[in-house]
Amino acid sequence: MCGIVGYIGGKEAAPILVNGLKKLEYRGYDSAGIAVLENDFLVYKQSGKVSNLEAIIDAKVKQVTTGIAHTRWATHGEPTQENAHPHTSNNGEIILVHNGIIENYKFLKDELIRKGFHFLSQTDTEVLVNYIQYIQDKNQLNIEDALKKALQSVNGAYALAVLDKKEPNKMVVTRKGSPLAIGVTDTNDEFYVASDAIPIVEHTQSLVYLNDDEVVTLERGKKLKVQDIYGVTKGYKVKNIDLDLNQVNKGKYEHYMLKEIFEQPSTIENTLYSHLNNENTQISFDKLEELKEKLIKAKRIIIVSCGTSWHAGIVGEYVIEELARIPVEVEYASEFRYRNPIITDEDIVMAISQSGETADTLAALRYSKSMGATTFCICNVFGSSMSRECDFTAYTYAGAEVGVASTKAFTAQVAVITLLGIQLGLERGTISKDTADGLVKEIKSLPLEVNKVLNTEKHIKSVAKNFVKSSSFLFLGRGINFPIALEGALKLKEISYIHAEGYPAAEMKHGPIALIEESLPTLMIATNNNFYDKLVSNAQEIKARKGPIVAVVNEDDDEMTHTADFVFKVPRVSDILQPIIAVVPLQLFSYHVAVYRGCNVDQPRNLAKSVTVE
Ligand code: G6P
Repeated sequence: MCGIVGYIGGKEAAPILVNGLKKLEYRGYDSAGIAVLENDFLVYKQSGKVSNLEAIIDAKVKQVTTGIAHTRWATHGEPTQENAHPHTSNNGEIILVHNGIIENYKFLKDELIRKGFHFLSQTDTEVLVNYIQYIQDKNQLNIEDALKKALQSVNGAYALAVLDKKEPNKMVVTRKGSPLAIGVTDTNDEFYVASDAIPIVEHTQSLVYLNDDEVVTLERGKKLKVQDIYGVTKGYKVKNIDLDLNQVNKGKYEHYMLKEIFEQPSTIENTLYSHLNNENTQISFDKLEELKEKLIKAKRIIIVSCGTSWHAGIVGEYVIEELARIPVEVEYASEFRYRNPIITDEDIVMAISQSGETADTLAALRYSKSMGATTFCICNVFGSSMSRECDFTAYTYAGAEVGVASTKAFTAQVAVITLLGIQLGLERGTISKDTADGLVKEIKSLPLEVNKVLNTEKHIKSVAKNFVKSSSFLFLGRGINFPIALEGALKLKEISYIHAEGYPAAEMKHGPIALIEESLPTLMIATNNNFYDKLVSNAQEIKARKGPIVAVVNEDDDEMTHTADFVFKVPRVSDILQPIIAVVPLQLFSYHVAVYRGCNVDQPRNLAKSVTVE
């Protein structure tokens, strides 16, 4: 979380930095700050959004061509102005922005206080900048050597951009655990730094991604100087990033979330067709050949992920077990990494992550790798840490997802994992060629079917209006739609702040039914062929207790339509493909409830899109 931006070159830095921050606001929006350096630092900080910061930046920054900036998701200390980055060292000479957490900051802070340092904020970052000053003074080092030496005693995660007043022609950047990209040009006249590629690509599409513990010195007119924290010189690769800038604009939509919901027919299509052969008749995962044998013979697949991606993992469990008959376990990455899990070199550990940077998922992946497992990730961001570190990446081609509540990344993840399930089933002989071909044919129709659901938005919006005052919601689904109930509940709670729980429908009797009354609505996903009658019985049990019901049903539905108070009709497809269709009305429903309630849909309180801290 938190987003950092840096610029050193010949252009005025402040507008580049502020625009960059706006593009990174999805990573946190508790406070924002900027520092530019000419002969001295000019620092501006404000609590709240980047727009608050923008309002206080004055003309003094004009023509200053070096600077760093930050948008914060608070970890240590409240989202106040004093805790906002950049943070300055006691002697006023070093300033930095930080994304991550310094775990041993307390120890370092106590040591610094004993040496006479004082602190203005509660942040771990202010400790770090002072520790760098302490190391610099003690050893008489230039800024990059001071940073390298200081980092040898620092535990935690960080992406840092550092300036030193004594060396105004330099910026030093580094990362460990948190992401960082550097935009470069052929002439090396200017450098752009950011937590991801999005703020950079409008200036240059040539990017360098750092590895953990690499420290880079950026100086106008010189090539990047990359060393590890022990001073060993490292090489670097420049990658050309082809990112469509339209993806990072709202276009005609009021919110990114709505735009991203409506992009799904094309993002699903892009994702599907990227993993089909030239004739679009067979599944073909590029470069999977070497891993194919391992996957086919796998005794077990463990899926690790967080949030919405975890729900995609549960869909994956149903799909892979059903089609390929390989046992699948789905784990919260945060639990998995700390519970001494049993992993062998016969296991496939699959991370699912939109960003490819989520701290817990990345740690789970690294741990699994160290235990000898084959690692695989389904990821939406090219060049992300997970995609670089695992044995094989199957990309989702959802494009940049900006809305904090994930929508199009989820359906793309489900599309990939479904293709994978079909492919594995075919290779393992657990499904016939005819079945596989039939599913491939049907899955290709999903973009069209999703479009049909999007066309019902007006109706979904009118239903949403009835629930603006609800304080709690139950979401029920069965089988492969159970994770969709979880996802629907998550969407509603994260953007509208209505408490919502997802449950397997049959579990209702073991607890949630006690809550049912007139004021507790239930959203039921009743599109499965398999469990339809059982779901209708559940609906009747709810109605008997006066609970309002909204149901997602197939277009030809009869019984549930008569039982429920409101229905969202979706096209009928095979059960195994239903999740991609069934989730769409839930996304739109949550969106409209939240908008009616006046919530900030794209930037829900306390959340961040990419959780790069524990
Ligand atoms: C945060 C986001 C969620 C996302 C989760 C996992 O909580 O708000 O939308 O699902 O992180 O992120 P990942 O990038 O690993 O999919």
